[in-house]
This record gives sequence, structure tokens and C-alpha cells, in this order.
Amino acid sequence: MLLLLVAAILSAMTAPSHSAVDSFVFGGCSTPKYTAGSAYENSVNSLLTSLVNSAAFANYNNLSVEGPLYGLFQCRGDLANDQCSRCVARAVTQLGTLCLDSCGGALQLEGCFIKYDNAKFLGVEDKTMVVKKCGASVGLTSDALTGRDAVLAYLQASGCTFRTTQYGDFHGVAQCTGDLSPPECQDCLSDAIQRLKNECGPSPSADIYLAKCYARYYQPASHSHPNNGNRFLRPHPAFVYTLLLRY
Ligand SMILES: *[C@@H]1O[C@H](CO)[C@@H](O)[C@H](O)[C@H]1NC(C)=O
Repeated sequence: MLLLLVAAILSAMTAPSHSAVDSFVFGGCSTPKYTAGSAYENSVNSLLTSLVNSAAFANYNNLSVEGPLYGLFQCRGDLANDQCSRCVARAVTQLGTLCLDSCGGALQLEGCFIKYDNAKFLGVEDKTMVVKKCGASVGLTSDALTGRDAVLAYLQASGCTFRTTQYGDFHGVAQCTGDLSPPECQDCLSDAIQRLKNECGPSPSADIYLAKCYARYYQPASHSHPNNGNRFLRPHPAFVYTLLLRY
């Protein structure tokens, strides 16, 4: 009983909070649309339903159905199965509104990413920059810069698909979608982290989302989450990404 309670408290302390998991990051829809009531629409609905169902058992899955149609979801590596499936269900609901009748769509919440398309994107590396946000450029003391650089160095060096670390006041998190091979993931994250350093400079926080990986660092104590930082959004050849104000 006591053990259970301790475990519950520990997980409440370490698990990402509910609101953070559900926060909208970006979404995008392909320009081509399908005809309402078509077989393609059925395929989209069944693919998205299957993705939501499989999110109860795994943090990543990919599916292909007749259409042809491909899809995947990727939850943040430290989400429990119930958090992951809630996140994916919410992402699918939002995608349905944002990308009504679109042949392809993608949506990133803080806790999960979901994408479907008729072009085969599974296993294909894609380093298109989608969102970049740099915190206020207030500069960092040399101690702080050391901490920031240690976090980024760890995120870059750790060979995992999901990476988190903390050094001093700085926290960092990075992740690839599960369809990338370890070398592809490494290549994507190396690029992302290099861009964070070069393009954000000595910011107290920064986020960068490429099409198949992201890296972020922040100082939880100083509320430096880059809410008012610079936003960068680039049109994608196939997807028009939308950044809502809620982010
Ligand atoms: C897709 O999923 C199948 C089985 O679920 C797996 O064997 C395959 O490696 C996955 N492909 C990619 C690109 O992730």
C-alpha cells in the first residue's frame, strides 16, 4: 500500500503534467483534398482509429492501409500508455477539425505527434524545419552558458530515440519519430541542435521541431518557456503548417 502510494507520488512528480501533454505545437494539412464519402475517407477514418487503438499499447506505431495510405504516431518517450492513448486520441480529434477532407495531415501536441498521408513517408528522413522558437535574448552568464551547452552536448551524444537530461537549471528533451533508424535519428537531432545553437544564440530556452525530430531546452524555475520568443514557420512542399496562438 505504502509502496503504491510512493510510486504514485513519484510518477505524479516525474510525469509530464496533463496540460503540458495536450498543448498544441503545430499542425499541417496537405493541399489536395479527398471527396467526402469516398473510399479514401473510409481508409483515413480506419487508419486513424487503428492508430488511436494501438496507442494504448505502445509509444510508437506505423500502419499502412489500402488507399494507399500511411500513418504513424509517436508519443513522448516517457508517457505512460494511458497518457499516450489520450494524447493520440486528442491529436486525431484536432486533426479532423484542422485538416477536414485533406489527403494528408500532421499534428504535434507536446506529448505526441501524428501524421497520415498517401505519399509514403515512413522510414524517410525529413529535416524540414517546421517550428523554431527562441527565448528572449537576455544573454546568459558564462556559468549558465556552460549548463546550457552541457545539456545540448548530452542531447546530441546520447544514442537514444528519446533523450532527456538536466544540468544545473537547464532541462533538455529531444526525440525522433520511431520510423527513423538510429543513424538517421542521430543525423536529424545533430542538425536540430546545431540550428538551435546557431540560430537562437545564448537564449535561456529554445525549441526546434524538424519534420521528424525535435530538440528543446528550458529552465523550469525561471518560467523561461519560450512563449513570447521568435516564431519561425516555413511552408512545407506538401504540408502547410499552421501555428495556433495557444502554443
Ligand atoms: C512499421 O511497423 C512494422 C510492424 O508494426 C515494423 O516491422 C516496421 O519496422 C515499421 N516500419 C517503420 C518504418 O517504422
